[in-house]
Amino acid sequence: MGTYDEKGVPNAMNAAWGAQSDYGEITFFLAKHKTTDNIKHTKAFTVAFATKDTVDIADYFGVETGNDVNKIEKAGCHVHKSRHVNAPIIEEFPVTLECECTSYDDNTGILVGKIVAQQADESVLTDGKIDYDKL
Ligand SMILES: Cc1cc2nc3c(=O)[nH]c(=O)nc-3n(C[C@H](O)[C@H](O)[C@H](O)COP(=O)(O)O)c2cc1C
Repeated sequence: MGTYDEKGVPNAMNAAWGAQSDYGEITFFLAKHKTTDNIKHTKAFTVAFATKDTVDIADYFGVETGNDVNKIEKAGCHVHKSRHVNAPIIEEFPVTLECECTSYDDNTGILVGKIVAQQADESVLTDGKIDYDKL
């Protein structure tokens, strides 16, 4: 999950407790993290799917915190701002959802996002659609 802080510094965390919860909607269950602080500021986040090639990076994003270190830099990742929301796209990941925060509850840790766009590398497409076998 990719976010910007209030200064525009990108961060990422690993999130497993999440699922599609409606058409065009995604829900996560989160403890308090740098990521949740960021989402409160920006009201946006991206979701990228780990692959064989990115599993080590994704794992790393889940064991350190952006409160202590710039994980994006340390992992050697490249980012650019998503076109539709105020959150970073991490270029090493082939599929990314761009999400607006619909709601976030500090008490329950439940984050609901509206998926406003998705980006995919040519490498995971077949006939213009995401091919989950390739991904
Ligand atoms: C495989 C894996 C899955 C994780 N899933 C979640 C999750 O669903 N919810 C959550 O709150 N934390 C989860 N974490 C923990 C966060 O990724 C971790 O605390 C991270 O350091 C938070 O980063 P941040 O402080 O930079 O936001 C997971 C960690 C790993 C390694």
